[in-house]
Amino acid sequence: MSTAPQRAARVAADTPDEQNEWLDEQTAHDAELADAMATYDVTHAADKVPHVLAEQSQRTTTSAHTQGVVMQGRNKWTAMILAVGIVGSLAACGSGSSDDESQVVGVALPTKEQARWVADGDNLKKQFTSLGYDVEMLYAGDDAAAQADQIQKLIDDGADALVVGAVDGTALKAVLANAASEDIPVIAYDRLIRDSGDIDYYASFNNFQVGVMEGRALLAGMGVIDASGKPTGRTGVNIEVFAGSPDDNNATFFYDGAMSVVRPFIDAGVISVPSGQVERLDVAIQGWKNDVAGQRMTTLLAPYQAGKHLDGVLAPNDGIAQAIIGAVKPALGYVPAVPGQDAEIPAIKSIAAGEQIATVYKDTRTLAEVTVGMVRELLKGNEPEINDTTSYDNGVKVVPSYLLTPQMVTKDNYKHVLVDGGYYTEAEIG
Ligand code: BGC
Repeated sequence: MSTAPQRAARVAADTPDEQNEWLDEQTAHDAELADAMATYDVTHAADKVPHVLAEQSQRTTTSAHTQGVVMQGRNKWTAMILAVGIVGSLAACGSGSSDDESQVVGVALPTKEQARWVADGDNLKKQFTSLGYDVEMLYAGDDAAAQADQIQKLIDDGADALVVGAVDGTALKAVLANAASEDIPVIAYDRLIRDSGDIDYYASFNNFQVGVMEGRALLAGMGVIDASGKPTGRTGVNIEVFAGSPDDNNATFFYDGAMSVVRPFIDAGVISVPSGQVERLDVAIQGWKNDVAGQRMTTLLAPYQAGKHLDGVLAPNDGIAQAIIGAVKPALGYVPAVPGQDAEIPAIKSIAAGEQIATVYKDTRTLAEVTVGMVRELLKGNEPEINDTTSYDNGVKVVPSYLLTPQMVTKDNYKHVLVDGGYYTEAEIG
């Protein structure tokens, strides 16, 4: 949960009881994350088929718990860093002001097309600003070349650190070399930046786990597995498969995670894919475009209009899930099982109405908190805390990462998780 210097500073600051409580939290958190990564190891996916839903519900409980631990630990850590920062600045200049006031964080985000990125931007801005940083934030309109130009502008405007949610994870090598030549630290935000040695850290969710949750929701929604996760014996099930944008590293993790639990049922002949289109690059939606996804779904409808039943569609996110439902429902007169991710408001309304079966919730407030903490540490010359040093090889190096735990949201728990958790008001999703 934290680096040795952070632990030491923390331990030095508290009473023995507080120290023990805090260290227990870190240990519990480290164990949970190690467990989550091991559980979702793709190489063991086939062994897991009989237990898929049992693990899902167990993981949902655990992830709720983990999330609590993350927030608690994070808040403590942030408070500790704040305390250290304030003490440092008091000692340095004899005033109560933050030592970060004149520093500028450049934030480059991919698009406003999905509501989640708007929330990401809002959370980052709010949290950086509240710590006294100036923020220059640019959205790229899903245009990779424009994003490279925007990052150059952030460098030219004097950014002290960069936070980048990439449009195309492979297109930023040259501009990040420019950042490195000016010693500007770079955090890859949510999406890994590939083929560059000039990124320092990666803040994201456990993206493979997101995919596993989507795959399990699909299987359960179609009645292929029961509430305990065991195969029900149902056969003759038809699905279609969609994946996210090929230039987004996350899309591969989502697809691999989902297919790790779905493919064994295809291989066993339980599930068919009537279009024959299953491989990631055959089913990927360039740029995560919802309209393109809706159009692709429409082109796949013929066998279902001729009498086959469409039981489910693997959708990688809420925007695509809603586009699929929008294409299928008027044409076939029913809604198949479709999962998603991002807990976007239209998806939550659809879940409440009994249409979309589930969404994987990734709390953008917490992701911003992790990222802001990383930047703050880097700008102080410290090592940020990380919890993963193996999962994200970008082709040049394994990028040290902090991975958060996603959470499954269904009709049964959406109010509790999203309204009680303060992510949305009742009025927003009602
Ligand atoms: C994000 C998802 C999002 C998708 C499309 C991915 O990189 O992790 O949350 O739905 O991009 O914007």
